[in-house]
Amino acid sequence: MNPQAEFPEAFEICQQFTISHDQMIEVIERMTKEIKMGLARDTHPRSVVKCHISHVQDLPTGLERGKFLALDLGGTNFRVLLVTLISDSESDMISKTYIMDKSLIIGPGSELFDFIAECLAKFCKDHQVERDNLPLGFTFSFPLRQDGLANGVLTAWTKGFSCDGVVGKNVVQLLNEAIARRGDLKINIVAIINDTVGTLMSCAFSSRNCRIGLIVGTGTNASYVEKTANTEMLQNFHTSSKQNMVINCEWGAFGDNGVLEFIKTSYDKQVDKQTPNVNKQTFEKCISGMYLGELVRLIVVDLIYRGILFKGKSSELVFQKWSFETSFISEVESDAPGQYRNANIVLDKMGLRQATDVDKRCLRFICQTISTRAAKLTSCGLVCLINKMNANDVTIGVDGSVYRFHPKFHDLLVHYVSKLLRPGYHFHIVLSEDGSGRGAALVAAAAVSNKQNPSK
Ligand code: GLC
Repeated sequence: MNPQAEFPEAFEICQQFTISHDQMIEVIERMTKEIKMGLARDTHPRSVVKCHISHVQDLPTGLERGKFLALDLGGTNFRVLLVTLISDSESDMISKTYIMDKSLIIGPGSELFDFIAECLAKFCKDHQVERDNLPLGFTFSFPLRQDGLANGVLTAWTKGFSCDGVVGKNVVQLLNEAIARRGDLKINIVAIINDTVGTLMSCAFSSRNCRIGLIVGTGTNASYVEKTANTEMLQNFHTSSKQNMVINCEWGAFGDNGVLEFIKTSYDKQVDKQTPNVNKQTFEKCISGMYLGELVRLIVVDLIYRGILFKGKSSELVFQKWSFETSFISEVESDAPGQYRNANIVLDKMGLRQATDVDKRCLRFICQTISTRAAKLTSCGLVCLINKMNANDVTIGVDGSVYRFHPKFHDLLVHYVSKLLRPGYHFHIVLSEDGSGRGAALVAAAAVSNKQNPSK
């Protein structure tokens, strides 16, 4: 395939999305600067990559045992889990997924928390643990400012959520109040964590040198293990007896102060304008599942208007915002070269039933362009964190729909991280399953044991 010769106009548009090696190095340098600003007390207030302190300081030891509840809120669905940690290699998990109506994620906050409490109550009754006062770990995948493990103030909604009355509030308190309003549950919320922290913990349970938790799903973000001595935002950080602190970077906001303008295209700006959080989550909007499909769609629509794609035979659906799902990118790219089985299914779903083979190759090229840029930027973030930790042998635990379902995302990450990392540095990228279940339970277990034995 020679894209430049076959579809020169599309090729030219896609050129705007290519990021050179030098530009990637620039991205790493800029992100490093932002992370340092987030960590330091003087610069934290005006930083955009906030580097929130998670208050998780103990990586799993393998000795955690017991029964825990976990909640998982932050993507398209909401889950309740009952996790039993049995041994250092065995855990048992029962979970139920609840579909969330669009009205819940943009409605009043009180309704959201009533819904969460209701699902939790039903689940606990089904499993007869509603009066057991079980410790609960809450995976809440939005930016939280925390001054302890069991509280967190929401600083902003991301990923399309916009419930009223939650920003600026302690989310654990809101949930406790909703539970109290019901009066039929006894639960002990011991920890609230970000999904990246759960991912890191779950992976660290089996890979002892896991130091980064990465999510590339609906949103993107990473957490990593920092020296407590560098976490100035922690009260009395210099006298803390624990060496490490997991930092929730909230890297999705990288670029919100303009430092990524040099890689942004007009299409990125258009996607941004269509979101409820304009000018926010710049990095995330170039990388994560909520936005990648829309970038592809906008390019396709542009080429339709110019009379280049699907000549005269396009559909109404393709002109509808957000109609091209990010999972379509994974499907189109899963076809073997020269075959269009998945592309045909996707085109059919989009109502584009008369596409030529050139159209199909062009669509595939656009998808590759968008997913490759996402993987390049994610790699820059990873290299920035590896360098920051100066870790020469590190495991990165990853979860999220883009990472899981895109056929090449893993390989692209390995390729670009290898290219960007200092010689002699090694890394492994592994799928980290059950971050919001097992990960949350591991944090809850450490919280309970620290409370019982504070000197540890
Ligand atoms: C968004 C959230 C962040 C979360 C990420 C992945 O960026 O702000 O907290 O970790 O999505 O779900």
